[in-house]
Amino acid sequence: MKQCILILGACGQIGTELTQKLRSMYGNHAVIASDIREPISGCSSLAPFEILDASNKEAILKVVQKYQITQVYLLAAMLSVTAEKYPAEAWRLNMDSILAVLDLAKEQHIQKIFWPSSIAVFGPSTPKIKTSQKTIMEPSTVYGISKLSGEFWCNYYHEQYGVDVRSLRYPGIISWKTKPGGGTTDYAVDIFFKALKEGKYECFLAKDTRLPMMYMEDAVQATIALMQADRNRIKIRSSYNLAAIDFTPEEISEEIKKHLPDFEMSYHPDFRQKIADSWPQSIEDAEARKDWGWQHEFNLETMTRDMIHQLQKK
Ligand code: SER
Repeated sequence: MKQCILILGACGQIGTELTQKLRSMYGNHAVIASDIREPISGCSSLAPFEILDASNKEAILKVVQKYQITQVYLLAAMLSVTAEKYPAEAWRLNMDSILAVLDLAKEQHIQKIFWPSSIAVFGPSTPKIKTSQKTIMEPSTVYGISKLSGEFWCNYYHEQYGVDVRSLRYPGIISWKTKPGGGTTDYAVDIFFKALKEGKYECFLAKDTRLPMMYMEDAVQATIALMQADRNRIKIRSSYNLAAIDFTPEEISEEIKKHLPDFEMSYHPDFRQKIADSWPQSIEDAEARKDWGWQHEFNLETMTRDMIHQLQKK
C-alpha cells in the first residue's frame, strides 16, 4: 500500500527537519506537515500544510481521511521548562495527543505511529551513569511524568490492540535550522547562536552538569531507521533508550573555543538546574543497537565543527 505520512508539530525543532528528510525520501505530496499555527515563514514553504491541534482527535481524523494518511509522526509537545510553568496544559496536550493518535490506530484509520519520549522519564532516584533501559523510573517533572505515562499507553495499545507504535527516548537534540523552545537542554543550541553573534554566553546550568545529547542528523536518522525496521525487530513498545554523546557546559564551551578562541562562557544556574540534576548523565542504548541496528555518527568534535560551519553559512 502507498504510504502517506502526517507530521503533527511540523514547525518545531525536530518536526522541521523530519519533514524535510521524509519529503526528500517519499516526495512532497506523501508527507503532510501540520502544526497548531501557521509557520512564521508562511505555509507555502511547508505545503502541503494543515493547521491542526494535535490534541483534537476529530480534527486529526479529518486530515487522515482527506489525504489517506497511513503513518503519523506525533512531535507536538510541551517540553520540560514550559511544562513546569503550565502543568495542566502540558498534561492535557502531551497526553491527549498521544491518546488521540493511538485511538486512531486502534480504530484502523492509520497503520503506524512514531512518538518521541525523552530522557526526562528518568528521575532523581535513577542511576545516573550509563542509565539502562529498565531501571528505577520516578520522574520529578511534569514533562517526565507525561512522557512516562505516554510510554505505558504505547505499550498497552500495542499489547491489547496490536497498534504498531514506535518510540525513542531522545536526549537533548542540537540543531541549527530551527531552535528548540522550552527545554532544559536548549542551552546546548543557544550557546552556538550566541557564540557566533555576541562572542559570549551565560549558561543557565552549572559548568559540570553532564547531560546526554545528540546531533539532529543522528536523531533524524535514528527515527527513520526505527520506522523502517521490520515490525518483528521492534521488541520494545514503550520506548527505546537512545544515546550518542554526553558533555558538560564547560566541555562544549572548550570545544567551541577551538574554533572561536575569544569566546567567553559564564555560568548563572537558575531553576532549570534542578530539572537537569534529576536526569541521567549518560545513557546505555544496547537494545536499540541490537534490535534495529542503531549507530550514531557525530561526536562532540564533529558536531561542534558542523554546527559552527552551518551557522556561519546561514
Ligand atoms: N530536550 C528536552 C527538554 O530539555 C528533554 O527531552 O525538555
